[in-house]
Amino acid sequence: MKPENLLTFSDVTFSYDGEEGQRVKVLKGVDLSIAKGSFVSVLGHNGSGKSTLAKLMNALLLPEGGKILVSGVDTKDGEMIWEIRRHVGMVFQNPDNQIVGATVEDDVAFGLENMGVDPKEMRNRIDEALLSVGMEKYALAQPYRLSGGQKQRVAIAGIMAMRPSVIILDEATAMLDPQGRQEVMHLARRLNREEGITVVNITHFPEEAIDSDRVIVMENGEVLMEGHPAEVFSQVDRLQQAGLDVPFVVRVRHELIAKGYDLPFELHQEELVEHLCRLLLTR
Ligand SMILES: Nc1ncnc2c1ncn2[C@@H]1O[C@H](COP(=O)(O)OP(=O)(O)OP(=O)(O)O)[C@@H](O)[C@H]1O
Ligand SMILES: [Mg+2]
Repeated sequence: MKPENLLTFSDVTFSYDGEEGQRVKVLKGVDLSIAKGSFVSVLGHNGSGKSTLAKLMNALLLPEGGKILVSGVDTKDGEMIWEIRRHVGMVFQNPDNQIVGATVEDDVAFGLENMGVDPKEMRNRIDEALLSVGMEKYALAQPYRLSGGQKQRVAIAGIMAMRPSVIILDEATAMLDPQGRQEVMHLARRLNREEGITVVNITHFPEEAIDSDRVIVMENGEVLMEGHPAEVFSQVDRLQQAGLDVPFVVRVRHELIAKGYDLPFELHQEELVEHLCRLLLTR
């Protein structure tokens, strides 16, 4: 059975107003679909249109041309806009700009209050959301005292409390240290695998995309490549021409191949090391 698509873009175009009043086209006919329950990574150079894509996914922006469906609902359907935003949660880059509550639990409550959820139900949802991101011990903590990774987990709890089907991380790890980055990525993977949340991870770190179901590469407002990580990352030259980095393991193998070593394509370090050891032992 074909997986159900949660998000589909059909020939989507979008423009911003330029400085001299002209319209500047930043999405030029994007077609893509994101399957329910999948983990999708979006890569692309600065200004390639990734954040615009994300904002179109949860109706913060509406397409100029073409059509976007979220669970079959057109994002241009004005009556469904709040339902779409509840359904498609978004985490941004700067953890400090996203926290509004005086305590962690107040912060998670914020979206629920806006939705008019009743207090008893709210209590349950806050506890459940904090538990799901592993921040239950910090319910009464002041957010400014938390690490960057913890703040992003609280932002994710705020989304989880709304019972979303998709979480979009728009470079949510970009301002974090390696530990914070790892915390947020572990959490995103766990929510995807164990709670069935569809994840769209927009990132500049190609390593974050290795274990995705699909990778979408944007260039200059268009989808340059789309496929399984192995399909996308095996095209090293094409990615490098687009100014994009590939995962470390892929780069090392690419350089060794150029030096005449015969190595199969691998995305994971352990496998590459194993092939290398075998090769060196049989020399
Ligand atoms: N509010 C805006 N007004 C005018 N132009 C904008 C606006 N937001 C983005 N742009 C332009 O649209 C293009 C796409 O921007 P977008 O933010 O979607 O790219 P991005 O891939 O997310 O980039 P980055 O990697 O830097 O986050 C860029 O050329 C950008 O300058
Ligand atoms: Mg961006």
